[in-house]
Amino acid sequence: MSEKESIGVVGAGWVGLVTAACFAELGRPVVVREIIAEKVDTLRRGEVPIHEPGLPELIEKNRERLTFTTEMGELLDAARLIFVCVQTPPTYSGDADLSAVQRAVEEIGDPEGKALVMKSTVPVGTGRIIHRDAPGLAYVSCPEFLREGTAVKDFMEPDRVVVGADPGDEWAADEVAAVYEPVGAPIVRTDLSSAEMIKLASNAYLATKISFINEIANVCDEVGADVTEVARGMGMDPRIGGSFLNAGLGFGGSCFPKDTQALKMLAGNIGYHFQLLSSVIEVNELQKRRVMSKLSKHLDSLVGKRVALLGLAFKPDTDDMREASSLVLAHRLEGEGATVVAFDPVATERARDLLPSVEMAGSALDALDGADAAVLVTEWPEFAELDWAEVAKRMGNPLLVDGRNFLDPDAVRAAGITYEAIGRPSLPDRSAVG
Ligand code: UGA
Repeated sequence: MSEKESIGVVGAGWVGLVTAACFAELGRPVVVREIIAEKVDTLRRGEVPIHEPGLPELIEKNRERLTFTTEMGELLDAARLIFVCVQTPPTYSGDADLSAVQRAVEEIGDPEGKALVMKSTVPVGTGRIIHRDAPGLAYVSCPEFLREGTAVKDFMEPDRVVVGADPGDEWAADEVAAVYEPVGAPIVRTDLSSAEMIKLASNAYLATKISFINEIANVCDEVGADVTEVARGMGMDPRIGGSFLNAGLGFGGSCFPKDTQALKMLAGNIGYHFQLLSSVIEVNELQKRRVMSKLSKHLDSLVGKRVALLGLAFKPDTDDMREASSLVLAHRLEGEGATVVAFDPVATERARDLLPSVEMAGSALDALDGADAAVLVTEWPEFAELDWAEVAKRMGNPLLVDGRNFLDPDAVRAAGITYEAIGRPSLPDRSAVG
């Protein structure tokens, strides 16, 4: 593939846009085909429809290399490598909904000398089925490992790039590997199904780590240990590693809940009961409810109480509300008779439709005004900078549950606020030390 040859990207969602902008930054012309005409218009005007740090700048900088179109023909005329970046949301059964993938595949057809490169997360076996139906088109699995909020950096500095293809399609795998060459990461060359499984297994393993530390936190709560200390001590063992050991409300977002469920279903559909993953999912669902028991330690009833949620997005640096813990929490609190008021630095607009009965405040302090309790749901850095003396003054009853073990307990308590966290002693007896 020549340096100047165009790359095709199908789908201008979060993955597609990041992929397209980063390939353009690496010097490639990119044709992005998006089915929604308004989105194409928005992008042609230079506006970026999602919140992802660094992405608007990258798109602006590489405007000349980026073409946005609704026409698949325009993409097929220009590119030999066609990166498919469409959504694969869960169905009611928990299986992945592949209708957007199928639609893209049908529109691409079976052109000779081109390759479909699957970025979307699909069940293992999907590639071989698509390839069987379109044998002229080479097929490569190149799963994405981007995290929302740090996607541009993750693309440019990946830990690895996985490139999977079956015999006969090596030329296409070579070309995909060549396109990624400038990022300088190890390339994992493997077969199609193994590449698909690497993605699902990676997300399932990370989700397992989170549910594991959350269960340790719940036991810590009972025995008076501090899970943040436990995680610190565990993480220094390189066989364990320190990342993804933050206990809290559990995982959300568009990936872990969907992918753990999809892998569980994939196993189930072939008659294998993936017991560990079933528990990971169940622990995660129950974890969001831990906050309720923390509140009821201090409040007899939530009826008529005003509860402030600090943060709504499923994690910081994104406005993504998919499977956000705040959704479950707000409904539980309202179900117990509380009035819920919330603030998020960027997700408030998206959250409005999803939580119509929740009062959206213009700032964290406004949300805390007169509140009987507050719950930190998303660890936005600005929440760590709050003036706790002012918070204590504003709240009707100074009680704060830190759902992400994010705040400095001593600073919060020094302001006279009752501080509760997940798996950390509520009132550590420092005098017992030494
Ligand atoms: C995740 C993976 O990290 C990416 O590698 C993958 O590409 C992506 O899914 C995907 O499949 O597309 P993402 O969902 O953006 O990325 O977010 P993460 O940063 O992984 O966090 C996921 C959830 O786990 C968040 O709700 C976060 O709050 C929670 N989490 C994370 C914890 O509760 N504890 C931790 O220690 C880490």
